[in-house]
Amino acid sequence: MRVYLNGEWLPGERAHVSVFDRGFTFGDGVYEVIPVYGGRPFRVAAHLARLKHSLAETRIDATYTDHQWLDLFDSLGQTLPLGEGTIYLQVTRGVAPRQHAFPAHAPPTVFAYARPASATASRDVGRGIAAVLLPDIRWTRCDIKTTSLIANVLLTQEAADCGGSEALLVRDDRVNEGAASNVLVVCDGRLHTAPADRLILDGITRQLVLELARSRGVDVVEESPTVDRVRGADEVLITSSGRGLLAVTTLDGAVVGDGQPGPTFRLLHEALQAFREAVRRGEAQ
Ligand code: PDD
Repeated sequence: MRVYLNGEWLPGERAHVSVFDRGFTFGDGVYEVIPVYGGRPFRVAAHLARLKHSLAETRIDATYTDHQWLDLFDSLGQTLPLGEGTIYLQVTRGVAPRQHAFPAHAPPTVFAYARPASATASRDVGRGIAAVLLPDIRWTRCDIKTTSLIANVLLTQEAADCGGSEALLVRDDRVNEGAASNVLVVCDGRLHTAPADRLILDGITRQLVLELARSRGVDVVEESPTVDRVRGADEVLITSSGRGLLAVTTLDGAVVGDGQPGPTFRLLHEALQAFREAVRRGEAQ
């Protein structure tokens, strides 16, 4: 696999980063994950806007222009042999002797590659997934897509230890998002999801699914659902660039709704598939 590192394209095994890189010593970096359909990076404007938000909020001074970022995303998409997969991009605060305050002269490290799509996802689409509710132990700037993911890693592993493939995170009795996804619940025919504030990552898949829901007449309520509402929901859904849209069919071992992906899931999943097809044909972005 060819990877991009600080302006160079290299075989993955020949790309090396210093042990003094602040991404390694502090997790001092930000990242993006961008799906690619038919060789075309998906919703690039939204991903670029979020990348710039993460860079600005962490004060990492990457000097790439919008045009350079977009060119890079395109080149990464073209490295996928079948044109389907995801781009991973990370920007760290660069290489410097370890001290917490920002280094004076350290160019950011920019690393990226594209990974082919995995085949496991289609089983989850048909059956749904198991999830568990866990306390949200993260910080209060979840809007920044930072590589400091230790809390998310621990939460995901705790979910896996309980047989779940996602942790739905609870803060002050509200479910804001998942450890690596956004959460939407269907109650009384309406779609409830947390507002895009600092307690969630404003997922690009979430944004599109909400657009698709509204355009199909589904009422959207941007208010974090309470734990009781989630436990009693007709449907619980998650969204992410890696997994797309999936139904949660068991929560803490209890069946959600009738235990099958429900009608709102099917409506939105079909709409999302149609949108992806349009991206493949170059008719949507
Ligand atoms: N994670 N919330 C969190 C905490 C996430 O980590 C993610 C995605 C999302 C969904 O965002 P999007 O739809 O833009 O992918 C929400 C990525 C895929 C990851 O860390 O691999």
